[in-house]
Amino acid sequence: MLKKMTLFLTAVLLLVGNQVKADEGMWIPMLLKKYNIEDMQKAGFKLTAEDIYDVNQACLKDAVIGLGREGRPFSHFCTGELISDQGLIVTNHHCGYGAIQAHSTLENDYLKDGFWAMNKGEELVNEGITASFLVRMADVTAEVLNGVNDDTNEEERTKIIKKNIKQIEVDTEKDSEYRANVKAYFAGNQFFLSVYEIFKDVRLVGAPPSAIGKFGGDTDNWMWPRHTGDFSMFRIYANKDNKPASFSKENVPMKPKTSFKISLKGVDEGDFTMVFGYPGTTTEYLTSYALELMTQVDNPHKIKLRTKKLDLMRADMDASPMVRIQYSAKYAGVANSWKRWQGEITGLNRLSAIAKKKELEARFEAWANSDAQLKAKYAGILAEMKGIYEEMTPYSLARDYALEAGFSGSEVVKFAGDFKKLVSLDKKETEAIAKEVKGLQKKAAAFYKNYNQSTDQKLLEAMMGMYHDNVEAKFLPEELKVIAKKYKGDFKAYAKKAMAKSVLANQDQLENLLANYKPSNAKKIAKDPAYVLAMSIDDLYKLIISPKYSELSNKVNKLQRTYLAGLMAMESDKVFYADANSTFRVHFGKVAGYKARNAVNYDHYTTLEGIIEKDNPNIFDYDVPQKLRDLYATKDYGRYGQNGQMNVCFAATNHTTGGNSGSPVLNANGELIGLNFDRAWEGVMSDLMYDATICRNVSLDIRYVLFIVDKFAGAGYLLDEMNIVE
Ligand code: ARG
Ligand code: ASP
Repeated sequence: MLKKMTLFLTAVLLLVGNQVKADEGMWIPMLLKKYNIEDMQKAGFKLTAEDIYDVNQACLKDAVIGLGREGRPFSHFCTGELISDQGLIVTNHHCGYGAIQAHSTLENDYLKDGFWAMNKGEELVNEGITASFLVRMADVTAEVLNGVNDDTNEEERTKIIKKNIKQIEVDTEKDSEYRANVKAYFAGNQFFLSVYEIFKDVRLVGAPPSAIGKFGGDTDNWMWPRHTGDFSMFRIYANKDNKPASFSKENVPMKPKTSFKISLKGVDEGDFTMVFGYPGTTTEYLTSYALELMTQVDNPHKIKLRTKKLDLMRADMDASPMVRIQYSAKYAGVANSWKRWQGEITGLNRLSAIAKKKELEARFEAWANSDAQLKAKYAGILAEMKGIYEEMTPYSLARDYALEAGFSGSEVVKFAGDFKKLVSLDKKETEAIAKEVKGLQKKAAAFYKNYNQSTDQKLLEAMMGMYHDNVEAKFLPEELKVIAKKYKGDFKAYAKKAMAKSVLANQDQLENLLANYKPSNAKKIAKDPAYVLAMSIDDLYKLIISPKYSELSNKVNKLQRTYLAGLMAMESDKVFYADANSTFRVHFGKVAGYKARNAVNYDHYTTLEGIIEKDNPNIFDYDVPQKLRDLYATKDYGRYGQNGQMNVCFAATNHTTGGNSGSPVLNANGELIGLNFDRAWEGVMSDLMYDATICRNVSLDIRYVLFIVDKFAGAGYLLDEMNIVE
């Protein structure tokens, strides 16, 4: 009775408290105490802001890592979390995919069969993967904007900011073993410093077979209901002092400040959930003009190009297991955004997003004209923005083609770009040449490992054809015009000839050339058809597209910054959240199914039953491993099951995006209940416009992870390291 009463009151409060929209938003950890903790607690969170973020003592943030790559450690591509005091981390299968793929061969196909190190000695070393811990953050807006005022022109502003940021980073890193990175928030109205400890020896511990870790493949990607066991495990190693070190046999498992407790309690509809992680990019405050350009011009063309690429790759992958291994990661990469863009367009239309933006813009315009001071600052900026987007449209489309069809249409054309430096070096720079050749030999080995010339020939033919047919002449690379003329539009004949002639497209020839490299060989590369085309696209980009495009983008950026500052002033009682920028954020929401469309209501969770329903040995994406069928038949779920069922995934309202993959999903007590890995189809427009009725993040139930490790893989010894609460 009492419980019912509280529920009723909470419901009333939620309705009245419409001001603060829970669910939507990705929050800055150091500001939780100021802006969010009350809402979080109202939503059911039982801990404090300090339990999440505290610089003086271990707290939940210390169990979360951003996964990055050596050389670009601050562009986190995924998130992971510590689940033992011996550096054991869990993230998604698709986050570890590159690493798993790199260790796979036809004989040891870890993608297909999975991999489990049965002791630490068997863990596999990965070059170039980094794991960053956030040590602390600071608001450095004042320091970054030091020397900038309202009259500073944009170019000058950029220069000053860049210099100030560098100085802050250098000062912070001085006499410290940490790394510092300052990033812009709120379209450049604010700046925060993040200080990281970055580990460099991250080893692969285990991954289920793709038939579990990628179950449903690209068919189910971005969809709900979902049954993907999307996880893999790694271990962070440190030197004897528990400090970051490059790989060495002497390294030992890293001892984190803290790690997550794992809960076996599961989730119910309405439960509080919190996600921590490194969301990459969102653009929630764009204008209607930007959305028009994106959904009506740019993305439809990019989708068309990628549809063709994917069809060509798929046909060859289906025909050869070798090509499947070589192209699986590339295919998934191309397919992922391709599919999301399509869902975004549908989702934005369904929300009438452009009309909503226009309505907001009209309100803004009225507000901006309501007073002389506001008028001086904000009136007319939207009209200006509209004009710039119109001017930008043809350049934006030309840029899309240069990037999608040009630079990354054919693989060998992309690879050819890496030879630019070698070709440009003077004969006398022998040392530099030798160094460059060595680097290229390494790149070539990696390139050919996953290269199938005949697939690429088809890509070259198709991409150049579409490029030529869809872009006005003034935006075409000169070389493409020459080719079209010479081959009378027969790009098939061109691609065939180019591949036969290209040294870069032929492994033996290139390896030979590099092994015996003489400065005079530069001419040969410079004449290579792939190189000639690559440089022609490069010229077009640098001389025709980029200057104008950057000029217009700079103008847009400035206006966007002013617009957002204006919006924040106009709605001054609303708590705004900053767009994602690959820095640490906290998301909170609740477990919830949703109404997908007329008469279709989705539950908030899926079970192993659903996997068995989809089971079909003739469909690659739905081919369930026999062992999993057996475990299902005997209902051997141990302590991981619930009511005779094995839960697999659940949906919730956390506002997440790319980069949040692998993020820990926590319950009200801060215990790990799942791993975020995706979003549901009807809501993938959340990067541009979030709607709590339909936007859902998709998480893997942690109990399914443990079940697979223990019962399926027989790697239960790993569970001994974990802190599991029943
Ligand atoms: N859509 C998810 C995310 O954006 C998962 C992508 C990987 N899976 C795939 N089938 N391509 O990254
Ligand atoms: N799958 C995404 C990732 O890899 C997550 C998302 O976009 O929802 O980060």
